[in-house]
Amino acid sequence: MRFSPGLSASLAVLLSVLLPACEWMPGRPRKADEVVAPTAVMDFSKLFTQNCVGCHGAGGNISGSFALDDPTYLAVVPEEKLRAVITGGVPGSLMPPFSIAHGGMLTDDQITVLVQGISAWKPPAANSSALPPYSAPPGQAAAGAQVYETYLASLRKMAGDAMFADGFLANRAFLGLTSDQYLRTLILIGRPELGIPNFERAIPGQPLSNEQIADMVAWLISQRKNEFGQPLVPVPQ
Ligand code: HEC
Repeated sequence: MRFSPGLSASLAVLLSVLLPACEWMPGRPRKADEVVAPTAVMDFSKLFTQNCVGCHGAGGNISGSFALDDPTYLAVVPEEKLRAVITGGVPGSLMPPFSIAHGGMLTDDQITVLVQGISAWKPPAANSSALPPYSAPPGQAAAGAQVYETYLASLRKMAGDAMFADGFLANRAFLGLTSDQYLRTLILIGRPELGIPNFERAIPGQPLSNEQIADMVAWLISQRKNEFGQPLVPVPQ
């Protein structure tokens, strides 16, 4: 079938008037259905849910690693440490690097959104001056063995024996998968969602001192035997 030029022109005009009216047609994607490029997501709760919740939990959910909204953690951790860990991960552990430069999927701006969003959970009253420092060199392993025994005995009383049957922090497989700093972090903040209090309340009436924490970390490190054959990667502190 042939169209005269005049008819084609009028058809074109007619279509240009009618086509926008097809917005309502079934199957046509709406604005909300448009796919956003993963690197364009700048919403904190989306980024946190997509990348962190699986391992760190959220809103009291129990997960494999500690809760990032833990008030003791937020009171002690320096913001630049948050950024460094999210960017580069923790080598030799299960914490993956997230920056594109380190093989992850997030841009520097998205990492800034995560750092700021996590820091904004810090309770306003948090006063870090009374708290032990976030990081410190390991102390004396021999002294740490005793402190750890007292610490564990106290936790057993509070949370029940079953929970610690595998040795808790001294579990050999666990020690093989964690950094020195993470051992310190866990003693500092506990795992309140599992009934394990922070350094202040783990032994009732006797807050753990900075020295005791450093000694326990030294003893735990001395229990690491590399028996599972994983490479021992020096972990930057
Ligand atoms: C595959 C599981 C996994 C995922 C996903 C994950 N983490 Fe981790 N994260 C861990 C583990 C395990 C550690 C402890 C590593 C170690 O031994 O130091 C950790 C450690 C951390 C630490 C440092 C803890 C310390 O000692 O101060 C921060 C901060 C952190 N993660 C933030 C995040 C954020 C933010 C996300 C999401 C962008 C995330 N993690 C995603 C498993 C994970």
